[in-house]
Amino acid sequence: MPRFVRHFSVFVLFIALVSLPSCTPQDLPTGSVRGGIVSTAQHVASDVGRDILQQGGNAVDAAIATAFALAVVHPAAGNIGGGGFLVYHGADGKVTTFNFREKAPAAAGPAMFLTDGEIDEVKHHRALTSTGVPGTVAGLALAHKRLGSLPWADLLEPAIRLAEEGFPFTENLMDFQERILDSASSNPIYASTVRAFLKNGTEAHATGELLIQKDLAESLKRIRNNGADGFYKGETARLMAEFMAANGGLITEQDMADYQAEELPAIHGTYRGYDIYSMPPPSSGGIAIVTMLNILEEYDMGAIEHNSAPYLHLLTEAMRRGFADRAQFIGDPNFNPDMPVDWLTSKKHAVDLASSINPDAASPSDSSTFNGFMPYESEETTHFSVADEAGNTVSMTYTLENSYGNSIVVEGAGFLLNNEMGDFNPKPGHTDRSGNIGTLPNLTAPGKRMLSSMTPVIVGQNGRPVMAIGSPGGRTIINTSLQVVLNVLDHGMSIGDAIEAGRIHHQWLPDRTSYESTRFTAETMSAYEHLGHTISSRNGQGSAMGIWIDWKAGVKYGASDSRSSEGSASGY
Ligand code: DON
Repeated sequence: MPRFVRHFSVFVLFIALVSLPSCTPQDLPTGSVRGGIVSTAQHVASDVGRDILQQGGNAVDAAIATAFALAVVHPAAGNIGGGGFLVYHGADGKVTTFNFREKAPAAAGPAMFLTDGEIDEVKHHRALTSTGVPGTVAGLALAHKRLGSLPWADLLEPAIRLAEEGFPFTENLMDFQERILDSASSNPIYASTVRAFLKNGTEAHATGELLIQKDLAESLKRIRNNGADGFYKGETARLMAEFMAANGGLITEQDMADYQAEELPAIHGTYRGYDIYSMPPPSSGGIAIVTMLNILEEYDMGAIEHNSAPYLHLLTEAMRRGFADRAQFIGDPNFNPDMPVDWLTSKKHAVDLASSINPDAASPSDSSTFNGFMPYESEETTHFSVADEAGNTVSMTYTLENSYGNSIVVEGAGFLLNNEMGDFNPKPGHTDRSGNIGTLPNLTAPGKRMLSSMTPVIVGQNGRPVMAIGSPGGRTIINTSLQVVLNVLDHGMSIGDAIEAGRIHHQWLPDRTSYESTRFTAETMSAYEHLGHTISSRNGQGSAMGIWIDWKAGVKYGASDSRSSEGSASGY
């Protein structure tokens, strides 16, 4: 079941007990609060966000503090060395997004991942050439400038404290520690990571021992003191550039100084009377989820048995078509000015796509429609959702790409680097069955942002936010967000049940559907296969963190996916 933790400050508990108000917090439906709520993949960070809300911060303040805290306590994906997207829906109806996806450095180019004409996986995903100029700090600073209310420095304090004073080493970190020790024994590039994550830089931690990150704390203090300039200029930028120059990376101090986050209008669609808001390109998520919802609106999904074979069939056909569009059309808009976004998200386009669906048989994902195949994407990213007392809502996903990025810590600066450059197509013009694509919209270019699948979503109704959802999981993210939205809007599930329900994933190519092995019966999957689908099982798909706001009852529900071992929803 989803995990939910409701915390009360000692003060609030005292009042509740002493003054016996007519509606004590205990009267609320299970899993709900009247104040604010934060749902993340790491419970310490959820509590940080909740505390900021209780101090009077708004949803954006809490999101900023939560993101910095996750960079300390969930370094697999929480970051200052990576990038991501934030979607905002105010209680007043204002909707906007922030794009802080990493950018290719100035020295990058379309053939940079080739060695002797062949794709070099080390350059693409493991060496310092895999690192894009980080965007997270600029994005959070911009969101704060536009929508924050508490002083910036206050939002950094909890993360600085956690880095300086430490927090208990988790099982997930144990796995990373083991892996990094192993890698460092044969490759000196990981020496700085060993120094950052081992006790006193040398000794392995036991579970529960405190992880203290002094260099990271200093980097965070520079951000606290100087805002985004505390990261993109001065000491941190210098440490980054020197480390890059000494170890074959491309990022310079100029690349750091040049980085800018952007505020962009959300992608907007509708689904059965609800508004759907998500990220525009360079995320493909917003366009793809709106296309798929538009297709599914052509069917009475609520009347079809949930997760039955006919239901999964229609889902798959919508996914297949949404992903085919994605591969053909989407990349960084600053480099692809002619992307047909309005057409892709139009109802008319969806009607055309739906008309090609055979209700009784799978369509082919063949090269007659498009000769592209999907590249590999890993499954480490993190999503969190925040709603403040007034109902202002944030849905934010950010990442280092792989778990712990390329596992390389900037010497002296204490933070892990992303390997997001691996989201660019590695070889111009080369598309093959092993999973590489080489199409134009997502080729590497200086200053360009790589295509993403991150899909932070906010569902609105009557001008107010009612739901926030998102997930990690590479390309599966889009389909995870899609299915949770359908589960709530079509099947009336609670946010917790909607997150726990089984999920499938199809991405056009390869033409195969993965499903969560413990959440579907053999009979269902066999009936689904009989419709012509190829299937493969997997353990879990994504880790969704969601919020539902019941405006009428004046309560908010938060849920953290049980697929995440450390997550929680924390509210008051
Ligand atoms: O931006 C993207 O789509 C990928 N770099 C996200 C990677 C990811 O989700 C890995 N995580 N779970």
